[in-house]
Amino acid sequence: MTDTPVYQTEALIAEDIDAYLDKHQHKTMLRFITCGSVDDGKSTLIGRLLYDSKMIFEDQLAALENDSKKQGTQGQEIDFALLVDGLAAEREQGITIDVAYRFFGTEKRKFIVADCPGHEQYTRNMVTGASTADLAVILIDARKGVLTQTRRHSFLCHLIGIRHIVLAVNKMDLVDYSQSRFDEIVADYRAFAESIGITAFTALPISGFKGDNITALSANTPWFTGPTLVEHLETVELDNTADQARPLRMPVQWVNRPNLDFRGFSGLIASGSVRPGDAVRVLPSGKTSTVTRIVTLDGDLDQAAAGQSVTLCFADEIDCSRGDVIAAADAPPEVADQFESTLVWLDDDALLVGRSYWLKLGTQTVSVTVQAPKYTINVNTLDKLAAKTLELNAIGVAEITTDRPLVFEPYTDSRTLGGFILIEKLSNRTVGAGMLHFSLRRAQNVHWQALDITRAAHAALKHQKPAVLWFTGLSGSGKSTIANMVEKRLHALGHHTFLLDGDNVRHGLNKDLGFTEADRIENIRRVGEVAKLMTDAGLIVLTAFISPFAAEREMVRAMLPAGEFIEIFVDTPLEVAEARDVKGLYKKARSGQLKNFTGIDSPYEAPRNPEIRVDTTRETPEEAATRIVDMITGNRDDS
Ligand code: ADX
Repeated sequence: MTDTPVYQTEALIAEDIDAYLDKHQHKTMLRFITCGSVDDGKSTLIGRLLYDSKMIFEDQLAALENDSKKQGTQGQEIDFALLVDGLAAEREQGITIDVAYRFFGTEKRKFIVADCPGHEQYTRNMVTGASTADLAVILIDARKGVLTQTRRHSFLCHLIGIRHIVLAVNKMDLVDYSQSRFDEIVADYRAFAESIGITAFTALPISGFKGDNITALSANTPWFTGPTLVEHLETVELDNTADQARPLRMPVQWVNRPNLDFRGFSGLIASGSVRPGDAVRVLPSGKTSTVTRIVTLDGDLDQAAAGQSVTLCFADEIDCSRGDVIAAADAPPEVADQFESTLVWLDDDALLVGRSYWLKLGTQTVSVTVQAPKYTINVNTLDKLAAKTLELNAIGVAEITTDRPLVFEPYTDSRTLGGFILIEKLSNRTVGAGMLHFSLRRAQNVHWQALDITRAAHAALKHQKPAVLWFTGLSGSGKSTIANMVEKRLHALGHHTFLLDGDNVRHGLNKDLGFTEADRIENIRRVGEVAKLMTDAGLIVLTAFISPFAAEREMVRAMLPAGEFIEIFVDTPLEVAEARDVKGLYKKARSGQLKNFTGIDSPYEAPRNPEIRVDTTRETPEEAATRIVDMITGNRDDS
C-alpha cells in the first residue's frame, strides 16, 4: 500500500481526534456539520469530499469500485454513497455512536465533518454534532426545494450558534443546471432564513454525484462564479479567529502547582488574547492581578489568543481555582444565579421541573433546577406551544436557578460561557443541553440580609442542636404515627420541636399541589425549605412525607449543615401497608379510581443508606419511637 493516508476514514471517537490533529498541526481546522438525508445526496457528497481529498485506503477504493459496478452504477462514476453508508453499516455492528465524525484534509486546511441523521427523532444527535461546528452545510435536493426538514435543520443550526451556513443546492444535474431553479430556491430559503434571524448564508449549486462545483468550478454552471464548496470550506473565517476580537475569557481547567516556586492557571482561551503585563480579573471573586508569564510546553509566549491552551502566572497570590474564569480586568463577564435559557432535552425520561440536576458550563459545575417551560418550539413549524415539561428532543425556553453564582455570557456571544449541559445526578446521564439568554434581574436585586441573631444563637437559647428527622416510606407505612410519638417524647424531654406532616401541609402551604412527579418534587422542595428555616430558628423538625424520590431527599440533605439531616426509612413492605389501608386509598388505587399512587403506579425509591431504618413488621411504633429518641439524644451532644 503506497501513500498511507493519515487516518482511515471511519467514525472516530474524541480521543482519536488528538492523534489525528498532531499530524496536521500547522493547518487550521474547520469543524462542520452536514444536514440532510440520504435522499438529498448527503452520503454521496461526504463520500466525494473524502475521495477527492484522497483520504481513503486504496483497498477501500478498490472495493468501492467493485461495489459500484455490482450495483450497476452507470459509466465510470463511483457511487460515493456506498463508501459512507458502508462505513455506517460497519459502525452499527460495534457500539452505536450517535454522531459519526469524519476527517479529511486539503492543502490549506483540515476538516472534521459531523455526519448526523436528519430525521426529527434525531434532533438530539444533530444538536450534539452542531454544538462544536463552525459551519453547517444544509443540503437541498434541487428538484424538491426548501422542505420542512430544511427549515428544521436551519433552525437548529442557528439555535446552536453556527455562524456560517452553506446552502448546498444539490443534484443540479437533475434540473439541467437551471439557474432559474437555483435562484428560486435561494430566494425561498432567504425569506425563511431571515424570518429566523439568519442574516447571511452562502448558496452553492452543486452535484455531489457528478462533482460540479465541489473542487473545481463547473462548465455546466457558467452563470455561477464561485466559490466552489471546497474553496469556501478552506477560506471561511473560523470561530476561533472571530473570538479573538472579543475580551479575554479563560475558564480555569486546573491549577498547576508542581512546587512552591510555581503557580499557574491552565485552560483553553475561549476568547480574546493575553500578553504579559495585562491586567486580569478572576471571576466570580472579582480579584485582580497582572499576568507575568504565559507558559506552554513549547516555552513562554509573548501573546496567546482564543483557541490556545496555556498556563497563566500572576503577579499576586490571589485565589483562583478550577471553574473560575480569568477575564480582561476592565471587561469582565457577568455573574448570576438565575437565567432565562433555551433547553434541548436529550433523554428518554422527560425533564422533571424542580428536580435538581448538575449543570456543567465550561469548567464550572453547579446544581440547578429548571422551572416549568414558558413554551416549547415545534421544530417543524416553529410555533410556540404551551408545555409543562420537556420530552425527548423537545426544545423549550425556561428559567433556571443555580445554587451558586455562575460566570457566564449570553450564548449568542460565547458558546463556551453560555452553553451548558444538564446531568442527572443519580445516573450521571447527560439529559439536556442548553443556552443561556440573560440573567434575570431579580437575581441581581435579591441579596442576603445579614442577621444579628444567628442560628447558633437561636439554638443556644433552646439548649439543643437543631436537626431534621426526615421520615420517608410508603403511604400507610407508619411515618406519621411514629413521628408523632417521637415528637411527644422529645417534647416531654424539654426539646423544642415541630412536626410537618404530609396530609396537613397539603391542606395549607401545598394545597395547590397534586401527585404528579413534578408536584411531589415541589412538595418536598417547599417542605425542605420550611424545615431548613425551622432549624435556623433552632428547632428539631420532624417531617412525615412519602418523599418517594432519592434526588429530593438528597437535595434537602444538601441544604442543611452536615449531620443535621437524619433520614428515617419507615420500611414497611407494600403488602403490609396495603393490608392496613387505613385511609382506603390502596383500594381506590387498585380499582383505578386513584391515579399515580405510590407503590401502585408511581415509584418509591427506597433510601440506600438511611441514618435509621425502622422495620414495622418487627417492632411496634412505640419501640421504634423509643429507639429513635435514644439514638437522637444519646448520639447528640444536646447538653
Ligand atoms: S409525597 O409523595 O409528595 O411525599 P405526601 O407525603 O405529601 O406525598 O402525601 C401523601 C399522602 O397523600 C398519603 O399519605 C395519602 O394520604 C395522600 N394521597 C393522595 N393521593 C395520593 C397518591 N396518588 N399517592 C400517594 N399518596 C396520596
